[in-house]
Amino acid sequence: MPCPFMGSLNQAFVRNYGSVLMKQYGNFCPIISRNFRTLGQDETKCPFIQNTNTIVADAPKEMTEDIVESARPYSYDKFFNEQISAKKRDYSYRVFRKVSRLAADGMYPQALEGLDNRRVTVWCANDYLGASRHPTVQDAAISSIKSYGTGAGGTRNIAGNSQMTEKLELEIAKLHKKPAALIFSSCFVANDATLSTLAKILPGCVVYSDAGNHASMIQGIRNSRAPKHIFRHNDPNHLKELLSKSPEGVPKLVVFETVHSMSGAICPLEEMCQVAHDYGALTFVDEVHAVGLYGKHGAGIGEERGIEHMIDIVSGTLGKAYGNVGGYIAGSSLLVDTVRSLAPGFIFTTALPPPVLAGSLAAIRLLAGEEGRSLRAKHQAIVRYLKLSLLVAGLPQMPSVSHIVPVPITGADKVALVAESLMKRGHYVQAINYPTVARGAERLRFAPGPYHTPEMIDSLVTALIESFHENNISFNQFLVNGTCRECSMEYKFDMPYEETYKYPMIAT
Ligand SMILES: Cc1ncc(COP(=O)(O)O)c(C=O)c1O
Repeated sequence: MPCPFMGSLNQAFVRNYGSVLMKQYGNFCPIISRNFRTLGQDETKCPFIQNTNTIVADAPKEMTEDIVESARPYSYDKFFNEQISAKKRDYSYRVFRKVSRLAADGMYPQALEGLDNRRVTVWCANDYLGASRHPTVQDAAISSIKSYGTGAGGTRNIAGNSQMTEKLELEIAKLHKKPAALIFSSCFVANDATLSTLAKILPGCVVYSDAGNHASMIQGIRNSRAPKHIFRHNDPNHLKELLSKSPEGVPKLVVFETVHSMSGAICPLEEMCQVAHDYGALTFVDEVHAVGLYGKHGAGIGEERGIEHMIDIVSGTLGKAYGNVGGYIAGSSLLVDTVRSLAPGFIFTTALPPPVLAGSLAAIRLLAGEEGRSLRAKHQAIVRYLKLSLLVAGLPQMPSVSHIVPVPITGADKVALVAESLMKRGHYVQAINYPTVARGAERLRFAPGPYHTPEMIDSLVTALIESFHENNISFNQFLVNGTCRECSMEYKFDMPYEETYKYPMIAT
């Protein structure tokens, strides 16, 4: 019979099914059969390769490569399999739900779920104000595609520096009352590229990073290889303690978020900036979960508190409240120009496409105006309604003072089960687990928006109660009479922002 290995089978087939072929036909082969008994004892050693050096040496190059590949000394698949198995064992393996959010009139915040397109209400999208489906934003994106096409066509240096790109940067700079702004493919990239570049090039730079910082900032700081100190989440006193030990005259960056993405806590911005400036540091403030949502024009917590000038570098996203994709920084002209000129994450990538630029510009303008203010007011009202409904039902919630409403359910398996039970009842909320939050700090993170109705919230709370019962999770435990059982602090719905930092850090 013809040899299945040397014969007409293509290389990929032999590579993929070699072991099956070996088992099926090995006995017929004068070379393999001699070594056949070793198979199964040590499958990483190929008997074919070991004893057939002359054949390998004489074989055509293509065939040699194929054979050598199958004899790789390291089992990559085994390694990857172990990694995935470990994630599955501790329930942190992520399964993405098929959820297609609907944008047609009257449909938002509904989505089609699964393969059978079941209708569900979405509770966890960061399209906080529904800007992604707003007709003004959609029209801007559509007409931009018609005029300029779908893609930027290159990096900013080559073909991607359209008028719209510069207009958007001017609008962002104006929003944050800064001389300049720079846009990136995402805010993950903005944070990573800016921090890694600045902390690397500023001679002897030391970074002070909040313990609750988002992965994008952690990544940027790590990539810079600058020395770093981590201060307790939202704790200006700890920051001060660390800064007071820092060498004088050395450049320093203090890095933190205003609205914490997973706990909803809001930082004591003024105190933190003041401490940083007292010690000569620059402040890098991530307003990703605040832009579009707070302040008269939606510029974030800095604007809401009238202290934007205390933020030296602000970073924001176009992908959450602004309903598009992309990220940015805003700051002094020289600083922005330095990042523009030196950050590989900015330089070596295709620019944002025309519809995203036009859609983002429309969304920023929309949310800076009257309609934005009205959406923000409705947003806050529905968030309060959810918090109150959870409290009345005796369901647990973490003491958040922002629009993010986390419901703690300890254990990655448990939180996933509750999310599944909710989905069965027509409510989609993603279970949040490690590495987004610490192990043991799992939660459901609700982000209701101005298009969620009180009836939807009532239905959600009923479904939550049923889902807790279905999975034998007792409640009425976390908050009793408005007091947090974990930290014993009184829980107030309308707590002033200034008070939020008194709460202990809620895992990140
Ligand atoms: C605090 C924070 N910063 C930055 C980012 C990254 O933003 P983007 O989604 O634009 O990459 C996120 C994303 O979730 C975030 O939560």
